[in-house]
Amino acid sequence: MNEHQPLPRIRFHCDNCGRILSAEESYSGKSAQCMCGSVVTIPFAYLSPCSENPFRGFRIAGCRIDSVMGKGTSSTVYKGYHLTLDISVSVKILDRGLDRLEAVTEDGFLEEARILAKLNHPNIVAVINAGVENGCHFIVTRYVRGTGLGKIIRQQSQPPTDRLIRIFLDACRALRLAHRRSVVHGDVKPDHILITPAWRAILIDFGLVKGLKEYKAGKVDRRAIGTPLYMAPERVRGEEGCDARSDIYSLGATMYHAFAGRPPFDGATVLEILRKHAEEPLVPLAEAMPSVPIPISNLVSRAMEKNPVDRFPSMDDLYSVLVNAAGHPRVSR
Ligand SMILES: Nc1ncnc2c1ncn2[C@@H]1O[C@H](COP(=O)(O)OP(=O)(O)OP(=O)(O)O)[C@@H](O)[C@H]1O
Ligand SMILES: [Mg+2]
Repeated sequence: MNEHQPLPRIRFHCDNCGRILSAEESYSGKSAQCMCGSVVTIPFAYLSPCSENPFRGFRIAGCRIDSVMGKGTSSTVYKGYHLTLDISVSVKILDRGLDRLEAVTEDGFLEEARILAKLNHPNIVAVINAGVENGCHFIVTRYVRGTGLGKIIRQQSQPPTDRLIRIFLDACRALRLAHRRSVVHGDVKPDHILITPAWRAILIDFGLVKGLKEYKAGKVDRRAIGTPLYMAPERVRGEEGCDARSDIYSLGATMYHAFAGRPPFDGATVLEILRKHAEEPLVPLAEAMPSVPIPISNLVSRAMEKNPVDRFPSMDDLYSVLVNAAGHPRVSR
C-alpha cells in the first residue's frame, strides 16, 4: 500500500448523541470517546464472529452487522449500519434451521416487512429492506435511538403522568393506523414501544402480526400468541375471531404496568398469569396507584374488560377518551 494512502476508516454512530463517528478499521473492537463524553465500542469492519454474535462484521443487504440487540424465539435482532445510506439500522435475521419448521415459515417471517411497508407513520418503525441473501432471511428497519418502555419501567424510573399520556397517545396513533389497514399487532407490550430522547413513542415488532382476514379465517398460529403478561382473555382461550380489541386489551395492560409500576396480573407460572387474565377481576389502576387520575384508571379498566364487547369498540374511541383525559385538570398539571 502507498504510504500516503489513508488507512480505511469505519463509520458508526454514537448511541448517546447520534453523531456519526469514524475510526481506522484496525481499531475495531476498541473503545472510543465521543465528543458528548460517552464511550462507544468501535464496530468490526470484517466478519469477526464471537460466541454471542456469530454475524459480527458480516455484510447483509448493504448493512454491516455490529451487535446483538435482542433474541426472540425464532430470530435475532442486530444493530447494524447501512453503508450506503450512512444510517444505523436494526437487522432482524431468522435463525437458521427454524425456517424449515412449520411454526415459522420464511414467508411468515417476511410478512412483518410487508405489513410495515404499508404502515408509513411517525410512530411506527420504518422498514428499509427485506429479503433473502446467502440463505439468510432478513428485515432491515430504521434504528430507533432510545430506550424501550419496558426498560424504563424495570428501572423504576417512571416518567411523570403527562409524559406517559403522551407516550400512549403516540402508541394509539400507531395502532389506529394499523387497525385502519386491517392489521392487528398481536403483541403490544412495553418492550415493543421504544421511547426516543424527544419522548416520541415508536411501535416495533409486528412479527406476530396477522391481517384481520387471516384471524377471521382462523389461520392464526396458536403457538405464537403473544406475551402472557399483556394477553387478552380471548387469546388465552385461543378463540377464533380475535380482532383489534385484543390490541386494545394489551395496550390497556401495558398502560396499567407503566402507571402502576407492576403488571395488572402476575404469577409464578405462565399458566397462572393466563388464568388470572381470563378469570380474576382487575384491581382498578387508581387503587393500585392512587396518584393516577381517575379518567385514566377508568380508561384502562374499560380497555381491559374480559369480554371484548365491553371494551372500546375501536382504537379511535380509546384515543378520543385519552385525548379528553389528557385535558383533565388533574392530568395536565
Ligand atoms: N428498529 C429498532 N431500533 C432500535 N432497537 C430495536 C429496533 N428493533 C428492535 N430493537 C430492539 O431489539 C429487541 C427485539 O426486537 P423485536 O421485538 O422486534 O424482536 P423479537 O425477535 O420479536 O424479540 P422478542 O421475542 O424479544 O420480542 C427490541 O426489544 C428492541 O430492544
Ligand atoms: Mg418482539
